[in-house]
Amino acid sequence: MFKIISKKILSSNIKSFEISAPDIAKNAKAGQFVILRLHEKGERIPLTIAGTDAVNGTIRIIFQEAGKTTTELGTLNEGQYIRDVLGPLGHPTEIKNCGTIVAVAGGVGTAEVLPVIKSLLKAGNKVITIVGARNKDLLILEDELKENSSQLLIATDDGSYGVKGFVTNILADVISKEKINIVYAIGPVPMMKAVSNMTKEHNIETLVSLNPIMVDGTGMCGACRVRVNGKIKFACVDGPEFDAHKVNWDELVSRLSLFKKYEAESFENFKHNPECKCHKE
Ligand SMILES: Cc1cc2nc3c(=O)[nH]c(=O)nc-3n(C[C@H](O)[C@H](O)[C@H](O)COP(=O)(O)OP(=O)(O)OC[C@H]3O[C@@H](n4cnc5c(N)ncnc54)[C@H](O)[C@@H]3O)c2cc1C
Ligand code: FES
Repeated sequence: MFKIISKKILSSNIKSFEISAPDIAKNAKAGQFVILRLHEKGERIPLTIAGTDAVNGTIRIIFQEAGKTTTELGTLNEGQYIRDVLGPLGHPTEIKNCGTIVAVAGGVGTAEVLPVIKSLLKAGNKVITIVGARNKDLLILEDELKENSSQLLIATDDGSYGVKGFVTNILADVISKEKINIVYAIGPVPMMKAVSNMTKEHNIETLVSLNPIMVDGTGMCGACRVRVNGKIKFACVDGPEFDAHKVNWDELVSRLSLFKKYEAESFENFKHNPECKCHKE
């Protein structure tokens, strides 16, 4: 059992938890994730380790209430427990000093990019962070991003804050002005795909953190398979980071929607009877 030490509400549907998990806190590195299960009949969902505090033995997760399990997670409060938290899982991001890095993040990907830019800045890179949100109210972690970037650039779809438009509008401008060594992109698949298409044209190495459906997180079930450079990879053990220019994006999109009907059904059941732990996951 893993105790929730603190809970913060970052936006209307994004929450941040500090969870007591001393072993994970001691070993986790940027880019890794945990798989958690809320109760015995709960489904297993992956969430990025957004921060660690090895001294206090806590890890931070930041999640968007996207469906049944994340919404149920959001109902928990300080002092309550999560049944299982497994990790750290996945390969850490390779942190080296390679010059100018651009990190592009959208939506809750903003939380996932935070530990990566923190480590890259510490390693001596110039880190230009570009974040996008639908509107100002959905923008999260601005101060922490600023603190851990050489430069922070913000785009909102409706222009309520920063530049009006998409992160790719800002990226195009940065590409025209800077010599970029690597681009990292973390966020919704359409955003990562658009970044990848743009950087491919300019021949800029680009890494993306993929988010396929995961179950065991240990390479056994095959749920998270993605095609990279024509070969099958398991994102949980071979990733989650991959060379963006080699990812089969169409297959990823199609696999992500495989269980939409069941996810919607499960969420509806949960909304009607949140206390019931036996409805379909
Ligand atoms: C390595 C990795 C790290 C992630 N980190 C974060 C994070 O830090 N914060 C965050 O908000 N989200 C993160 N996600 C996505 C998160 O796992 C899904 O939003 C969550 O599983 C949705 O579950 P649900 O029951 O609430 O919603 P559902 O209604 O069940 O699903 C909503 C959508 O989420 C995806 N999804 C559903 N089940 C899974 C699953 N078992 N594994 C992966 N995706 C699933 C599908 O695309 C689905 O259509 C990460 C995903 C991966 C693979
Ligand atoms: S989640 Fe089962 S193989 Fe990756």
